[in-house]
Amino acid sequence: MKNNKFLTMAFESSCDETAIAILADGREVLSNVISSQIDIFKNYGGVVPEIAARHHLENINEVVDEALKKADVTMEDIDLIAVTEGPGLVGALLIGVATAKAVAFACDKPIIGVHHIMGHVAANYIEFPQLEPPFTALIASGGHTNIAEVKNYTEVEIIGGTRDDAIGEAYDKVARVLGLGYPGGPKIDKIAKEGNPDAIHFKRVFLEKDSMDFSFSGLKTAVLNHLNIAKQKGEEINRADVAASFQQAVMDVVTEKAVQAAKEMGHGKLVLAGGVASNSALRAILKKKCDEEQIKLYVPSPILCTDNGAMIGCAGYYKYKEGQRSGLDMDAHANMPLSKAK
Ligand code: KG4
Ligand code: ZN
Repeated sequence: MKNNKFLTMAFESSCDETAIAILADGREVLSNVISSQIDIFKNYGGVVPEIAARHHLENINEVVDEALKKADVTMEDIDLIAVTEGPGLVGALLIGVATAKAVAFACDKPIIGVHHIMGHVAANYIEFPQLEPPFTALIASGGHTNIAEVKNYTEVEIIGGTRDDAIGEAYDKVARVLGLGYPGGPKIDKIAKEGNPDAIHFKRVFLEKDSMDFSFSGLKTAVLNHLNIAKQKGEEINRADVAASFQQAVMDVVTEKAVQAAKEMGHGKLVLAGGVASNSALRAILKKKCDEEQIKLYVPSPILCTDNGAMIGCAGYYKYKEGQRSGLDMDAHANMPLSKAK
């Protein structure tokens, strides 16, 4: 049922989720279907790009049908097609972009390309109907770690990013060496609850004074060294203690910088986005620090934190409302600066 609302159909396929959503008036989710390949990649210990692309291709038509069915609408009712054009795995992105373009062409609908990070930020507009920019955002996922100023619905200025591994990537790598499996983030989150965060002191990497950048590769190596040394000495490894100490080292830096950025920007709002935003320690520590500083913290529910179509549809809707359009010559981009998002 359309009910005279503006309907956006959105495609997200940048990594290992084939996700399609239908939104009414940009912020109301009518359907948000996510076909995850996590079970397939558990056996590989990580995402294999070629295999991900093949599975997107096999699944995407079925996911489109399910999204329409769940929303109780037909293609004729759709007003706009939105699609993640980058950054991500190029083969995976291409399946979403090619399908979205084919649907837009066949059904004669306008199409808009969306930057994946703009999507993660927009997840918060869905979760919090009253939320409006400007605000400070911490975007933490498997591919990105950024502190940004969200100036309006279509303009985001990145003020800090990772110089090596993304935060989720560091979690996944440390989980792998601890033998916890893939994806590692939720596994470390869980096991860390049973460990002592002060058991091992891993160095906190703050970089230069006032820098909003991050570096996690040294921490990952420090964990690896700790495990190797313990092994050589024949000492037993307490995985919960290692996980908790690693997590504390990450959180001390990330939460300090995010709150500092929010204070400096002065919008009084800090918004979390990306898969790592589901991390319970991150949520708890930030909540405490934000309360102390009288900053309002926004955290989407886990289903909107990890990759999904709804967030892409919301970001695409605001671009379209601002008069932006993409063409059928749109391409997928493995790397895509946010400045290209417009
Ligand atoms: O946003 P997302 O679904 O994909 C990217 O855009 O990268 O994020 C996936 C990442 C993975 O690295 C996963 O380990 C991490 O988010 N993640 C977590 C948690 N849940 C997912 N990391 C820490 N704690 C969690 N609870
Ligand atoms: Zn993502």
